[in-house]
Amino acid sequence: MRVLVVGGAGYIGSHTARLLASQGHEPVIFDNLRTGHASVSRLLGLPFIHEDLASGPERLAQVLSDQKIDAVMHFAAFALVEESVHHPAKYYSNNLVATFNLLEAMRQSGVNRFIFSSTCATYGDPIATPMDENHPQSPVNPYGRSKLMVERMLKDYSSAYGLRFASLRYFNAAGSSPDGLLGEQHDPETHLIPLCLLALLGRRNKITIFGTDYDTPDGTCIRDYIHVDDLAEAHILALEKITERSEPLILNLGSEHGYSVREVITSVERVTGQKAPIVEGARRPGDPPSLVASAGLARAVLKWRPRYRVLDEIVATAYIWFKKGGRYDDSLS
Ligand SMILES: NC(=O)c1ccc[n+]([C@@H]2O[C@H](COP(=O)([O-])OP(=O)(O)OC[C@H]3O[C@@H](n4cnc5c(N)ncnc54)[C@H](O)[C@@H]3O)[C@@H](O)[C@H]2O)c1
Repeated sequence: MRVLVVGGAGYIGSHTARLLASQGHEPVIFDNLRTGHASVSRLLGLPFIHEDLASGPERLAQVLSDQKIDAVMHFAAFALVEESVHHPAKYYSNNLVATFNLLEAMRQSGVNRFIFSSTCATYGDPIATPMDENHPQSPVNPYGRSKLMVERMLKDYSSAYGLRFASLRYFNAAGSSPDGLLGEQHDPETHLIPLCLLALLGRRNKITIFGTDYDTPDGTCIRDYIHVDDLAEAHILALEKITERSEPLILNLGSEHGYSVREVITSVERVTGQKAPIVEGARRPGDPPSLVASAGLARAVLKWRPRYRVLDEIVATAYIWFKKGGRYDDSLS
């Protein structure tokens, strides 16, 4: 299948584009490089369209027909929770309006398969854990609300226009390609595993633990980490599933294991053999104590079997990337 990978120069999109190509599909990367990396398409040897979703439905429809696209995977978004609180317009514009442009382009050009990067942030504060797909959706920040609004839009497009879609609600994506070709490079970096590795490699001074008095076994927040290649695999399975049957898919993607911040730091110390420079800080507003997925539905419906079951294995792949420098060389592209 010829798949437009929107946001394919970013972290999760690049790993998915690579897996698509390795399974015989034809991914075409579409990215404005706002937070993505020009070298991804060169490293993967894949076609690249350097453009912004803001260019509007007509132009995007032209891209879909010029490129003979069969399906769209949509990873492009801004994803910094705190920034979304201070700059909601930026989030509604890039996460909601830009997605509307893309869906309109698909409608105009008759492309009707769509895989959407949603998030556990659409649930808001957990009232039960682990969280399944029926957990109430009451997001507590504009980032989560922008993603929830897209989920609602997808349902409406599906009922009225026959769009076939999957909304995949990821928990915490982590890890890198085990051969170190692709990895995680966000600026600013806000994710715990890269932050720990950067500190251990001397590229940051310290790791701050935000809150040590939560009602959890060691007092720190608990999160569910899922390897980026396992996420990529689920996207391809979801695409196959919506091709085979028209019902929308709404699925959590997580490992179903919760690790506290202290457990993650200990895992990074074990994998690297080094002691992390830790500082204990106050809680951050809006951080729920525990976010753990129930992902039984994805396993049952997609026959999805995440390969990375243990946090140390995920951290080990991230370490390969950071030991190699943890940066793309975009100057060559
Ligand atoms: N990383 C996680 O743990 C996580 C968890 C839940 C959900 N998500 C969602 O997954 C998706 C991918 O996350 P990521 O960590 O790979 O982010 P990322 O920033 O690495 O990738 C996003 C890519 O989209 C591109 N992009 C953004 N706006 C664009 C636009 N208007 N036009 C064209 N390209 C544009 C960026 O340049 C970047 O390459 C996001 O939608 C995010 O909300 C991520």
